[in-house]
Amino acid sequence: MKNYLVIGNPILHSLSPELHNYWIKKNNINAFYEKQELNKDDLKDLILKIKLGKISGVNVTVPFKKDVIPYLDKLTLESEYTQSVNTIYLNGDKVTGHNTDINGFELAMKDMNFDLFDKKILILGAGGVVPSIIYALNKIKVHKIILSNRTKKKAENLLHLSNKVEVTDWGIIPDFDMIINATSVGLNDKDALDLDLSKVGKDKLFYDVIYNPKETIFLKNAKKSGNKIENGKRMFIHQAAISFKIWHNIEPEINEEVIKLLDK
Ligand code: ATR
Repeated sequence: MKNYLVIGNPILHSLSPELHNYWIKKNNINAFYEKQELNKDDLKDLILKIKLGKISGVNVTVPFKKDVIPYLDKLTLESEYTQSVNTIYLNGDKVTGHNTDINGFELAMKDMNFDLFDKKILILGAGGVVPSIIYALNKIKVHKIILSNRTKKKAENLLHLSNKVEVTDWGIIPDFDMIINATSVGLNDKDALDLDLSKVGKDKLFYDVIYNPKETIFLKNAKKSGNKIENGKRMFIHQAAISFKIWHNIEPEINEEVIKLLDK
């Protein structure tokens, strides 16, 4: 029986096992998928197990998406660019790291039918997921990507990723077509960003990478003021589906039942 894992710390909240085991069952695959909390010191041994065929594949989540890189034999272009790996598999005898967050985000945008070509995008935050979003936005050929992070230096460290990226001070809200909350603020229901977004107008797209809770205060307020909103659920499902395809060579179905699996 093949075995798959998602690793992170903490990992209790991860819904990847629900999703993967659902698709494994639907497709009659002889496999199971579990979650495992690890420490940084455990990464080397874990990756050796993939090399030896003792583990068939691994998803990586916060805070290890970069930390796993030194132990891998090969990186795909996407994971090299973003320095972020969320999917590991054995390709021949090479333990390979890939990043499916990029296409996950891109497919989530497609699902919404929101045309981002030539649009101005404001990203709040500069953490682990932001390089993947920048990569995807570059592919979609947006006009401009403005980064705003509480710690400005961290945003400035991402300027090299694209000549479309600019950095602004935290608290300054430039004109935008789409705003993305890529900070961790909102994971706790009652937490809200200390930003005044009341004057941005309406008919913009407010996107939150967070999907649990379903509507952060960021999204609730945006809806009240007449803007479109979307949470990170579809990005999460798509990134999982792409990992599934890599491991099992089967494109899993994304239907209402799958979407409901995550409404916990
Ligand atoms: P990491 O920074 O380790 O990659 P992350 O969860 O991917 O972790 O990123 C957290 C993001 O949320 C960061 O951009 C962080 O801003 P700082 O770089 O200034 O820490 C942002 N963040 C967390 N708490 C915040 C808060 N109360 N207000 C604004 N931004 C916050």
